[in-house]
Amino acid sequence: MIDLRKQDHLGVTSSSKDGDIHNKDAFLFLGNCPAHRYEAIITDPPYEIGIAGKDWDCKKLRIDVLAYQFHRVLKPGGNVFVFCSDFQFGDWYRELSRYFTRLRKYAWCKPDSRGTNKGMFQESFELGLHVCSENAYFDMEDRYKNYVVAGKTSGNERMMPDPDEEWSTKKGEKTLHPTQKKLSVIETLVTALSKKGDTILDPFAGTGTLGVAAKNLGRKFEMVEYGFRNHIAAWDRILGEE
Ligand SMILES: C[S@@+](CC[C@H](N)C(=O)[O-])C[C@H]1O[C@@H](n2cnc3c(N)ncnc32)[C@H](O)[C@@H]1O
Repeated sequence: MIDLRKQDHLGVTSSSKDGDIHNKDAFLFLGNCPAHRYEAIITDPPYEIGIAGKDWDCKKLRIDVLAYQFHRVLKPGGNVFVFCSDFQFGDWYRELSRYFTRLRKYAWCKPDSRGTNKGMFQESFELGLHVCSENAYFDMEDRYKNYVVAGKTSGNERMMPDPDEEWSTKKGEKTLHPTQKKLSVIETLVTALSKKGDTILDPFAGTGTLGVAAKNLGRKFEMVEYGFRNHIAAWDRILGEE
């Protein structure tokens, strides 16, 4: 029997009533995507800092291209949220300000972070950026600060490698994905920036946290992830939440 998880399946789409995950390159996907398709884009692209030595996080990211495409595929009145590294923040801010009039920085504060504090303030939050145009949708049911306090992604929530899978037990690898976002953080963003029934795009899906949040909250999702094992892990996770 062919084990699909060990093959290269670029091009495969996994579909459900709640949304799809495409095993594709995000830039190709966006280039072929019709205009004005999504009510929101909530995404966590590579930080370009080589997290845990991962190749996908080292490459130069064409933030100018992504900003243009995000604006093009977003419906009028939609919202974009991107997580980013410190040195990318200025690029994202500048490029997105070409298309959106309202921009606000955002922080995911992690009180339990264990970074070094030798001679410097201890690193304990991740940066994000929310952008939209005048009259964009925003959930007025609640009051939202531009930060959320939530511990690191850990415990049962953290996806661990499957010991039965050869590909997921690389030496020294402790978690399935080094940058898995915390579900409660993504759920806060989904609630603030979209309505029930809206479709949210995440073109850099990783383990599919956006899809799980969207499904839990009655939104549809469309996700893109070019790593096949991430694609499969995200899909298993979405099905597991049913
Ligand atoms: C920061 S991680 C996203 C993690 C995700 N938020 C989660 O909670 O699991 C970025 C993901 O983008 C994927 N990626 C990087 N470049 C890509 C590209 N050009 N097209 C599609 N996926 C890409 C990587 O494989 C990685 O899984």
